[in-house]
Amino acid sequence: MSLNEVLIDELRDLYSAENQLVKALPKAAKGSNDAAMKQLFRDHLEQTKGQVLRLREVFEHLGKKPTGQHCSGMEGCIKEVTEALEKDETGALKDAGILGAALRVEHYEIAGYTAALAIAKSLGQKEIVTLLTETLEEEKTAAKNVLASAKPILKAADSQEDEEEEDEEEEPKDAKEQESERQSEQDEKEAQPEMATKKRK
Ligand SMILES: [Fe+2]
Repeated sequence: MSLNEVLIDELRDLYSAENQLVKALPKAAKGSNDAAMKQLFRDHLEQTKGQVLRLREVFEHLGKKPTGQHCSGMEGCIKEVTEALEKDETGALKDAGILGAALRVEHYEIAGYTAALAIAKSLGQKEIVTLLTETLEEEKTAAKNVLASAKPILKAADSQEDEEEEDEEEEPKDAKEQESERQSEQDEKEAQPEMATKKRK
């Protein structure tokens, strides 16, 4: 395998990630309650479509087809967004839950483009570097915008919690949540042999 092939793998992964997002973003816009957040998802959908086209341009430069690899990392990130959207929460509290998942998506993309860009630079692929830099900057701005739009949401969610607190009881977990809890306990258990010798400083 050559470094050029590593770059193609990274780019195909990104191409799949962006296409998955084109499908997921309308659902995120529909499922969130806050008007600013809805708009943010809609704007980022348009931007993401542009990023898909930009990646096609990159593949034209390389003389390769853009498909060939499914991005399971983005599949996982989108699953977290879906879980946040399906939560039995309302108003700002629901949007606050979507925040972490949306930020994970953006930072996952930032990581992917940063890696692809570093490889393209070391291969001296100037035109590809220019195209990838444009997208990377858009992703960084998108992450900042998500965080900025979250500020009023978090404030509203905090007071919503105060209002709801009086009649709050721990709700029973459904089958999916129970499975998630079981798996998280398993994660902790499997890390235990490595963790056993570690002390907090
Ligand atoms: Fe993107």
